[in-house]
Amino acid sequence: MSSAAIIGTGSCLPERVLTNHDLEKMVDTSDEWIRTRTGIRERRLADPGTAASDLAVPAATRALAAAGIPATELDLIIVATVTPDTLFPATACLVQERLGARGAAAFDLSAGCSGFVYALGVAGQFLATGVYRTALVIGVEVLSKIINWQDRNTCVLFGDGAGAAVLQSVPAGRGILGLHLGADGSGGSLLTLPAGGSRLPASSTTVQEQLHTIHMSGAEVFKFAVRVMGEASLKALEKAGLKKEDVDFLIPHQANIRIIEAATKRLGLPPKKVYVNLDRYGNMSSASIPVALDEAYRAGLLLRDHKVVMVAFGAGLTWGAAVVNWELDPPKGA
Ligand code: COA
Repeated sequence: MSSAAIIGTGSCLPERVLTNHDLEKMVDTSDEWIRTRTGIRERRLADPGTAASDLAVPAATRALAAAGIPATELDLIIVATVTPDTLFPATACLVQERLGARGAAAFDLSAGCSGFVYALGVAGQFLATGVYRTALVIGVEVLSKIINWQDRNTCVLFGDGAGAAVLQSVPAGRGILGLHLGADGSGGSLLTLPAGGSRLPASSTTVQEQLHTIHMSGAEVFKFAVRVMGEASLKALEKAGLKKEDVDFLIPHQANIRIIEAATKRLGLPPKKVYVNLDRYGNMSSASIPVALDEAYRAGLLLRDHKVVMVAFGAGLTWGAAVVNWELDPPKGA
C-alpha cells in the first residue's frame, strides 16, 4: 500500500461581508451575543447568482497552481458539499468540465461539515491502493442559499466559501498517516434540511414552511461536537501510531470557538498550534477545514514534516479526523 499527500491547496471566499452588526438589523440578536456564544464577528456571503461550482473552480485552480499540476493530470475529483449547484448532475462533474479535467472520475460527497475530511479519506484510499495517482478534493458551501434569515438560532452561524487540496500518491509512511471516520444516524434530525429530497419533494407548502432551510437543535449538536472532536482526533492519532504530544498543528472545523477550545484542551495544545478563522468566516461547513488549511499553509504556519490534525463534526451526525504528515515547505515570502 502507498499513501496520499497534499501537494497544493487553494481557497476562494466571496467578497461580500456580513457583520454581526448587519445581522442586528435583520433579527433580534446582538454582536455581543454572537461573539461571546460563538466567536464569530463576520462571515462572507455569495451573490445571488453564485453557485457552489463558481467558488469551487477558483479554489481548485489555486490548489492546482500551488501543486504545479495541470488539470489534465487529475484522475479523480470529489466535491464535499451540502449545497451543490443542483441535486444532479454532481457539482464535481461541473467542476471537472470547467477545469478541463476531462475523463477524471467525479462525484459529490455528502457528510455535512465533516465532508472535507471524509473526501480526503476516500480520495486517499484510491491513491493508496494505486487505482489513481492524482486527486482533487474540494469542500464548498453556499449556505446563505439555505438559511432562514428570520431564524436567529441559525442565521448568525454560517457563511459561504470554498477550499481545495490536490493529493498525490506517495510512499507509505508519508502524507495521510491516520484516519478515523464515523457516524451516528440516530442524530440525523438534529441538523437537517427537511425538504427538496424524495421524502418531501418541493411544493408550495414546503416553501411556505421554510423546509428548504437549515433546521438545527443547537444545544444537542454542541454537546455532541464537544465529545466527538477530541475523541475522533485521538482515534486518528492512535491509528497513525502517534500521541497527542506529537501534534504540531490542529485545523479544527470552525463552528463555535467554545467547541474548538474544548477540543484544544482535550488534546493539551497551546492556542498558537490551533488555526482559527471562525471570527472572519463563520461556519462554512465542508469548506471550513480546507480554507483554514490553505490559510495556515500560505501564512507559513505549516512546516515540512509537521504532524497536522484535521477534525470535524457535522450533519448525519458524522465525525472525521485525519492526521497528515505535512509534505510541503512554506511558500516563498510566507
Ligand atoms: N441572538 C440572541 N439570542 C439567541 C440567538 C441569537 N442569534 N440564538 C439563540 N438565542 C437565544 C436562544 O433563543 C435562547 O434563548 P432562551 O433561553 O430564551 O430560549 C438563548 O439564546 C440560549 O440558547 P442556547 O441554545 O442555550 O445557546 P448556546 O449557548 O447553546 O449557543 C449555539 C447556541 C447555537 C451557538 C450553540 O448551541 C452551538 O454552537 N451549537 C452547535 C451548532 C453547530 O455547530 N452547528 C453546525 C454543526 S456543523
